[in-house]
Amino acid sequence: MIIGVPKEIKNEEYRVAITPLAAAVLTQTGHRVLIQTMAGEGSGFPDKEYADAGASVTDSAEEVYNRADMIYKVKELLPSEYPLLRREQVLFTYLHLANELKLTQALMDKGVIAIAYETVQLPDGSLPLLTPMSQIAGRVAMQKAAQYLEEMNKGSGKLLGGVPGVPPCTVVIIGCGMVGTNAAQIALGMGARVIIIDIDVNRLRYLSEVLHGRFETLTSNPYNIANAVKEADVVIGAALVAGGKPPIVVTRDMVKSMEPGSVIIDVAVDQGGCVETTHPTSHSDPVYVVDGVIHYCVTNMPGIVPRTATQALCNVTLPYALKLANQGFVKAIKGDGALAKGVNTFNGCLTNEPVSRALGIPYTPLDRVMSG
Ligand SMILES: NC(=O)c1ccc[n+]([C@@H]2O[C@H](COP(=O)([O-])OP(=O)(O)OC[C@H]3O[C@@H](n4cnc5c(N)ncnc54)[C@H](O)[C@@H]3O)[C@@H](O)[C@H]2O)c1
Repeated sequence: MIIGVPKEIKNEEYRVAITPLAAAVLTQTGHRVLIQTMAGEGSGFPDKEYADAGASVTDSAEEVYNRADMIYKVKELLPSEYPLLRREQVLFTYLHLANELKLTQALMDKGVIAIAYETVQLPDGSLPLLTPMSQIAGRVAMQKAAQYLEEMNKGSGKLLGGVPGVPPCTVVIIGCGMVGTNAAQIALGMGARVIIIDIDVNRLRYLSEVLHGRFETLTSNPYNIANAVKEADVVIGAALVAGGKPPIVVTRDMVKSMEPGSVIIDVAVDQGGCVETTHPTSHSDPVYVVDGVIHYCVTNMPGIVPRTATQALCNVTLPYALKLANQGFVKAIKGDGALAKGVNTFNGCLTNEPVSRALGIPYTPLDRVMSG
């Protein structure tokens, strides 16, 4: 199979779908990798490393799309890329189609087999191709919190972990799934006092067994959240309801109750945010202040560490890409229910039910399209 890897063109996107090591795995398995020049540059992987791994490097995105049986990417396509797609080409990438009517229409019109990383789902409900990005975002959240507490960033001037004789900062983490747990691990490692709040008591039970350090757990309700937020130096917003918008768990009044120079990192901003005063920001202009409280609400936090993010993403996508390349689309999908859930469009049909509900486009189950 010819596997095409275009350079990402989305603003501030420095990741690339494959590392040179992954290129070597694919070429040594008998596949051809065609990668666009400079595709890996933002992640610290120069063209030469891909060429040494057996990939062909081209300076033309058109050539990548023209020749590849499968396009292996990171982010959803931008309108300038739509015309490059070919009928029955496999597209393996993040898509987030529920917000992308025009892209969905283009994928259906072109008859592309679009497999979205974010809907590949294991039988236990987990989303294996999203997990590493949540882990990174949780860890980045605490790095950013420590940075914005600094005096030079107009923060409160407190050291997250304190020192002997001076108490540490209080970090309140609301929603303790993948993002929240990773934020908690780093906060505890830096010596902060941590309060973990989640609506799921089993999750709190689990965390109190596996995490070590100075932390308390609270069940999520407005009373507990208001009290915790009032004493917080840092609030991490990471609450999510699967398939829906996150609940607003921190109100404007709660933000007002925080000490000036405190920091809110609303990681859930990519789904709308779980803090009332949140609006999306970017890496080039990441923070704003409301009622004296610094808000960091960047929608693609892993983008700040592209080298780690590229490797972490490639670690989890490569086994699926290899399966698609080795077995072909039909056999791979029939033998792997998780991968089948990733298929969003096939043969001009929309095969993902939540996307169909969000966009108002008719839904056709994948097995019906495949058998017909
Ligand atoms: N900004 C970024 O760059 C970035 C990167 C990765 C993930 N995210 C976002 O971070 C958010 C969290 O992702 P995740 O992977 O940790 O999700 P997750 O599903 O693993 O965890 C969400 C947690 O929120 C809890 N929760 C739900 N409602 C709650 C409530 N009312 N109060 C308290 N807790 C509640 C759930 O019980 C669960 O434990 C998502 O919105 C995700 O899209 C953002």
